[in-house]
Amino acid sequence: MSEKKINLAVAGATGAVGNQMIACLEERNFPVKSIKMLASRRSVGRELRFRGDLIPVEELTETSFKGVDIALFSAGGGTSQKFAPIAAEDGCIVVDNSSAWRMDPDVPLVVPEVNPHAIAGYTVKGIIANPNCSTIQMVVALNPIHKKFGIKRIVVSTYQAVSGTGKKAIDELFDQTRAMINFLDYKNAVYPHRIAFNCLPHIDVFQDNGYTKEEMKMVNETRKILEDNTIGVTATTVRVPVFFGHSESVNIETKEPITADETRTLLKASPGVGILDDPQNNIYPLATDAAGQDLTLVGRIRQDESIPNGINLWIVADNIRKGAATNTVQIAEVLAKEYL
Ligand code: A2P
Repeated sequence: MSEKKINLAVAGATGAVGNQMIACLEERNFPVKSIKMLASRRSVGRELRFRGDLIPVEELTETSFKGVDIALFSAGGGTSQKFAPIAAEDGCIVVDNSSAWRMDPDVPLVVPEVNPHAIAGYTVKGIIANPNCSTIQMVVALNPIHKKFGIKRIVVSTYQAVSGTGKKAIDELFDQTRAMINFLDYKNAVYPHRIAFNCLPHIDVFQDNGYTKEEMKMVNETRKILEDNTIGVTATTVRVPVFFGHSESVNIETKEPITADETRTLLKASPGVGILDDPQNNIYPLATDAAGQDLTLVGRIRQDESIPNGINLWIVADNIRKGAATNTVQIAEVLAKEYL
């Protein structure tokens, strides 16, 4: 880390991801000179703790970014769409966790373990996008395999925690679960169906092609981050009654012959990956293992016996940490160290 201390802003500081961003900045000892906590007008009057100090929450406005070097955004797509260019205009570099800018060809989409070189492209618009949570953990595990064996096709099904939707969804799962075990009536406001004791094959809005927007994010973002538009990707994304930690069943077909042992050895030496793969002793990655730490956990590594060059994997990570806040802070660390 360079000695330069950074004037930071966190937009959406009161949210689930914003809170975790603040915790990550503290944990990772980010070189902070000053920090602004930005949220909606509703939160003005609240204070958030950073390194022992109580920082008042300010309303996010057009003038919030004057004198700010880096702003970490997690306040929804509409807010990013409107305010990221305003911040960039003031010379602030935005690292945006929403989907608003991810597929813009002039905005780098970055997972530091995979394509840190892409960060250099921030100069075009002053914005760097943080990928979708399910995509981040998948490419952390698949990038080393792609580099060595060449991935032709990916078939992924996700089992995604409610925290990915935000605080209101965490409350909805909690309230519904409590109501049901007490034989009380429950409401569903965040999701179109009950999430407690259920699985919803529906994340984000449906598109004309029958896929959800979340599924198409996985297709398009994976290709952009791996810098290879020839990879076939097909996804089914499912919301499950888990609070923290996304799990994924991933099937890949490679160009070169590949074995489960080679995959395990390769991933053991790969940055950001942890292997939990001893099924005889009931060891495989669980959402409860992933929650609260930053590794992408991989297990159930086995040959797909239905095709010549195929592997199945089970990939789990903390969606709020590596899937959002940690990845954003890692990008900001590279900016602080190498670009500012
Ligand atoms: P607030 O708490 O004031 O509503 P989550 O994803 O957990 O629901 O969090 C969303 C975050 O984005 C919160 O910090 C929320 O602030 C913030 N936010 C939502 N809408 C706006 C807006 N229009 N302007 C600024 N911040 C917003």
